[in-house]
Amino acid sequence: MQQKPLHGKVAVITGAGRGIGRAIAEAYAAAGAAIVCAARSEAQLAEVVAAIQAAGGRAIAVPTDVTRLEPVERLYQRAVEAFGGVDIVVINAGGNMDRMPIETGDPAAWLATVELNLNGAYLTLKCALPHLRARGAGKIIAIGSGQGRRGSPGASSYSAAKAGLSLLVRVAAQELGETNITVNELIPGPVRTALTADVERRAAASGGTTPFTNPVEWIKQPEDVAPLALFLATQPDRGPTGQTFSLMRRDM
Ligand SMILES: NC(=O)c1ccc[n+]([C@@H]2O[C@H](COP(=O)([O-])OP(=O)(O)OC[C@H]3O[C@@H](n4cnc5c(N)ncnc54)[C@H](OP(=O)(O)O)[C@@H]3O)[C@@H](O)[C@H]2O)c1
Repeated sequence: MQQKPLHGKVAVITGAGRGIGRAIAEAYAAAGAAIVCAARSEAQLAEVVAAIQAAGGRAIAVPTDVTRLEPVERLYQRAVEAFGGVDIVVINAGGNMDRMPIETGDPAAWLATVELNLNGAYLTLKCALPHLRARGAGKIIAIGSGQGRRGSPGASSYSAAKAGLSLLVRVAAQELGETNITVNELIPGPVRTALTADVERRAAASGGTTPFTNPVEWIKQPEDVAPLALFLATQPDRGPTGQTFSLMRRDM
């Protein structure tokens, strides 16, 4: 019998409680990886772990706030205790607590959004490295956004943070270029999740335009992102690094 493509691998996925993170967690588990699911909501994590186990996979939940160093360090320690190491990290936890023009927006909401999408990604990446080095190889996949290239009104914090994430990926890839640890960015384009439900609702109410109303775009379900995430997780040790892979249908 042919082995599953992620047989023997351990994947840590942040923001795995719902949306894109959950879809990637379930796809990686089906591909044979043991999954370490991280997010803040314990109830959502428990649901994902139960779904993976019911499908015959292996997973644990580690409630984690990725904006704080100690919980992120503990996340990787738990992965090692449960499954013996870490091979794949999906930096997926993200969100937008701001959604206001710069002029009228709340500085606390701006900072919180940058803290989650950029600082949280930095901590998740940094704390993964000793564990990936211990394995001699690893894949880091950061979920970016087209907003980090183009931006849009009312998305200054989210766009700036995602632009920063893109550069974080590139710098990390250069720093790790002589190792077998690759770092890439996956841009999903518009996906129907809790994060975007509000964007869609507001646009419908105001008649405003969003990527969801752009007839050129592919409006996805979270499951549609999983094949590209699986492709990136199954590349060779000396495979692509410092690159952006996108599912969008517009020039970024
Ligand atoms: N949906 C899209 O159209 C789209 C497009 C481009 C990029 N993205 C990116 O894709 C990623 C996933 O987004 P999504 O659309 O799937 O959103 P989502 O359904 O809202 O999921 C976000 C996940 O991140 C977790 N999270 C939020 N804050 C966290 C924190 N401080 N610590 C740990 N986990 C945290 C959430 O769980 P808790 O709240 O329980 O912590 C949840 O599991 C994000 O990075 C987002 O920017 C999405």
